[in-house]
This record gives sequence, C-alpha cells and structure tokens, in this order.
Amino acid sequence: MCGIVGYTGKRRAVFILLEALERLEYRGYDSSGVALLEGGQIFVDKKVGKIRELIKSLWGKELNATTGIGHTRWATHGGVCELNAHPHTDGEGRFALVHNGIIENYRELKEYLISRGVKYVSETDTEAIVHLISLNYEGDLLKAVLKVLPMLKGAYAFAVISSMEPNRIVGVRYGSPLVVGLGEGENFLASDIPALLPFTKKVIPLEDGEIADITPDGVSIYDFEGNLKVKESITVQWDLLSAEKGGFKHFMLKEIFEQPRVVADTIKGYISRDYELPFSLKDFRRIVITACGTSYHAGLIGKYWLERFVGIPVEVSYASELRYSDTPIGEGDLVIAISQSGETADTRFSALSAKEKGAVLLSIVNVMGSALSRESDYTLYTHAGPEIGVAATKTFTCQLAVLFSLAISAHPERENLINQLLKVPNLMEEVLSKAEGIKEVALNYSQRKNLLYLGRYLSYPVALEGALKLKEISYIHAEGYPAGEMKHGPIALIDQHMPVVVVAPRDRVYEKILSNIEEVLARKGIVISVGFEGDENLKKLSKDFIEIPQVAEELTPFLTVLPLQLFAYYIADYLGLDVDQPRNLAKTVTVE
Ligand code: M6R
Repeated sequence: MCGIVGYTGKRRAVFILLEALERLEYRGYDSSGVALLEGGQIFVDKKVGKIRELIKSLWGKELNATTGIGHTRWATHGGVCELNAHPHTDGEGRFALVHNGIIENYRELKEYLISRGVKYVSETDTEAIVHLISLNYEGDLLKAVLKVLPMLKGAYAFAVISSMEPNRIVGVRYGSPLVVGLGEGENFLASDIPALLPFTKKVIPLEDGEIADITPDGVSIYDFEGNLKVKESITVQWDLLSAEKGGFKHFMLKEIFEQPRVVADTIKGYISRDYELPFSLKDFRRIVITACGTSYHAGLIGKYWLERFVGIPVEVSYASELRYSDTPIGEGDLVIAISQSGETADTRFSALSAKEKGAVLLSIVNVMGSALSRESDYTLYTHAGPEIGVAATKTFTCQLAVLFSLAISAHPERENLINQLLKVPNLMEEVLSKAEGIKEVALNYSQRKNLLYLGRYLSYPVALEGALKLKEISYIHAEGYPAGEMKHGPIALIDQHMPVVVVAPRDRVYEKILSNIEEVLARKGIVISVGFEGDENLKKLSKDFIEIPQVAEELTPFLTVLPLQLFAYYIADYLGLDVDQPRNLAKTVTVE
C-alpha cells in the first residue's frame, strides 16, 4: 500500500523525507510527493513514477523547511497522475495531508463538501479528509482532526500539517500502520520501521484509534476522544545495514542469501531445552491457520507438520476467504495467523473475528509491535530482519522454522528432531553455493510464457510458492499444482512447449511423483526437477536437474524452495524487470 512519512526538527526536512520515502518505496511506487512548511506557507511537489522523479524535480531548489510530510503511492482511488498523487491540500494552501488506506464513505463526503462550496479537484478519497479538516479548523489542528475522525469510515493512517501551525504534525492510525520515531529535538512519523532506521531506533508503533501530536520537542498520543495516553517506546533491534542492499544487485537476492543466517537466528529462539509454549497444543480440538500469499503457503506446510507431530486436525484458509465464510469457529479452536508484516488487513480481520468468537489467537509475525502481534493472545516472532523485496523469501523460511519448532514442541522425539533442524542452515548454504548453476538453468526458460509447478505432500506448497515467485516478479504465467491432481485437468496443457518444474525430493511420495513425471514426458512436456543429489532417476527424466543435499523428509521445504526463489529471481533480472518492486504489487496490503 502507500507509504507515509513526516519529520519535524531542526534539520532540512526535504532530505529526511526523501531518504525515508526511498526506504518505503516497496509499499507503493506509482507516484510520490512532499509537502514542506516554510515561512507560513506550504510548498508541495509531486511527481508520477518512482521517487527518483521527485528527487529530480526537487534537485537544486532552496528548501530550508524543517517540518514536512511525504508520500509514496499505490493507487486505490483514481488513476496514476500528479493530481491524484499525495500530498493533497485544501485548495487554499492552509493544510496538506498524506494518507494510506481507504475512506469508504468518500463519495458521500465529497457530495457534502461540494454542497459546501468546496472545489474537489482529484479523483481520490483522500482529498475529502483534508477539506473536512479545513472546514472544521478553529485554530488547533489536533482539535480539527478530532472533529473529523467520526465522519470517516474505512481503514486509514494519515498525517497532516497546517501553514498556521509551524513545527507540528498530527498523525492518525485506524487500520493502516503508523509508527512514531523519537529523536533528540526532532521527531518522525512513518508507515513502517525501516524508514526510520537511519534516524532513530526508538519508536512507538501506534495502535488503531490513536493520534500522535508531534513537535520537535515532544510527542503526545491521544485516543479518538482526545484523552491523553501514556505510551512506552520500544527499541528496534534491526540495524541499518539489514535494511540496505549490502552489495547485492537487489534486496530480493540479498534476502535469499540471508536465509541460512536468519533461519538459524529464528530457530535459536525456539529450541532451547527450557522453551515452553504458554499453552498445550493438544488441548485444542482443532487448529485453523489463516494467512495470505507466501505466508499462506508456509501455513500449508505447517498443517502437515502440526498434524504429523501434534495429531490434531488443521485447516488452512486464505484469510480473505475465511473472514466471510460460515466456518464454525470458536472456543476450543486455536487460530494461527501468519504474516510477515503483521499488518495485512485480510489476515488481521479474519483472525480478529475468530478471536471474537472465542478462539485463541496465536500469530507468527516478523515486525515487532505490528497490529497483529498486539491483537493476538500470543505471538511467535520470526527473526528475519526487515524484508524489503516485495517478493517474500527469507520470511517464508523463517515462518517454516517457527512452525516446525511449534509442531515438535511437545513431541517425544523433540531432541532428535531439533538436531535435524539445526543442520538446516548449513544445508541451505550448500544449495545457495550453487546459485550460478541455477541461474544457467533459469535463463533457458526466460522466454517462456507459461510454466507448471508440481509437487506432492510437503513439496506441493513449495510448488505453489515457486509459481507465485515466478509470476509476481517476472510476469510469466505460472501455475502450482499437486502433482497427483494433474491428471484431473491440467495435463491437458502439457505439450512440447510446456516446461514443468517438479519438486521431487526422496520422500514418502517419491515413487508417485516419478510416475507423474513420466506422465508429463509422455506428452512431450519439458521437465525441470529439484531433487536430492545423486538421484539418477530424476537426472535421466529431466531436461534440467537441480540438486539439493539430502535432508530428513520433514525438512525438505527449507531446501527445495531455494532453487525456486533463485529461478524466479534470475529470470526476472534477465528480463530487466524491477525485481524488488514488481508492477501492481505492494509489500504490505492493508486494504481488503
Ligand atoms: O505480510 P504478509 O505476510 O501478511 O503478506 C502476505 C502477502 O501479501 C505476501 O506474502 C505476498 O503474497 C508476497 N508478495 C509474496 O511474495
């Protein structure tokens, strides 16, 4: 979704806003803009395209303002053009506002505003908020915001400045993320922590229904009734380097290569002898996993593990489907919500509605202080560090590490299973050391229009994940399928033009998947397989064979997914695409 930032202090705001915006660009990148408070006036500049277009436009301008707000957009309401880009103003230059989220009742608000003589110039929902604040302003920005909030329906975070109140920003969170950064004689606002890392590690993640009133000398937090709240700040553990490319061409590539380390870090937290869950999984009659995208694929793998090692039934639902389904859910159920960001609207709202019905809510989250982590009864963190590439990679394997540790937590064979798990990071290193070979294979398929990905058992979700990686960053159509289902339909697609990626480690379904490969070959399909080193069967049957080291059957997803991430990466990079910021996508999806 969009990214918003704010700064007030002693430094030149424009530089801080641009640096913070660049670090938020993964949240949206179709246009960007800043509004700066200078000499009792608001200067606004906005440009279509990446933030570098905005930087070019601002280059050489004498901008000394020390307070301002900025925005990078992922369009929801209104096309991609300068008029619709943020910040939006009230037309008289008295207020400027940036917004992330959706104002669902903006049409009624717009009609009302027009009836009051307001000139509404954009196609956005956002513009309504700034006009409402302007109409309700009586000398105090916070009071005007408090008057407007009851009129807004939807999920949003916004930041507003006024030309009449220098050195003040008011930020509001209701359903979309907003974090306050605390400095010395300066304070910040941002949608996400990575934007703040160059400036401060002391942050206050706002909760829904909170307002931050920010000046260089202090931050006050209020609820929507205007009551002052006492909030503790937290110190973020992520360092600045973890949010930089560190010599890699793309964040995605860096994040793929970070996996052995961050998986080891994540495992560490959950395998000590004394680690005990605050509840017993066996006490639940059922587990329901809710998640989206890559996190959903991790959930599918978690299901196999939980059913195998805990022995209770597990359902995995797309969060967007669970939310509006009639699935009976309530007391006796454990809901596990998996989310890198902890802000995904579908995941949060499906989990919250289950919690309201009496289920216990456990979340697996990467971002400390995120909404989902606060809303859950229990949270298990992945220790992946910030993930900037829009395509999830390292957070997927870290989610697997948490899910596996959770599943085996009370198993009689736990010690033995932990010993197996501890070998995983080194084995992941081994796979990654063969990246050049995987690149060679990948480039043979860069001109294809369609690929099929097949797997069975634990490799089925890996196939889904491989297909998702390819389509989201290379725009090549890719379909993941359970290999056994192929004969029930997708087999009709196979001919000499169809590459089929088969994930086939030697596990309990190995013989079965070999038969599925034969079925592909019988129809002249081209097989690219991922399997254990030295597997002569696979080698013979495949046009390209990618080897991974042998590992215990249960742990294969940690290794099999790596070549598929690299396969997608190398194709997208070869095609010259924007790997870290693929078209139409946003890192954190805070709308339903
Ligand atoms: O932050 P979340 O894990 O809740 O995000 C869920 C999906 O939006 C995310 O996994 C998305 O599918 C990624 N682009 C996949 O690479």
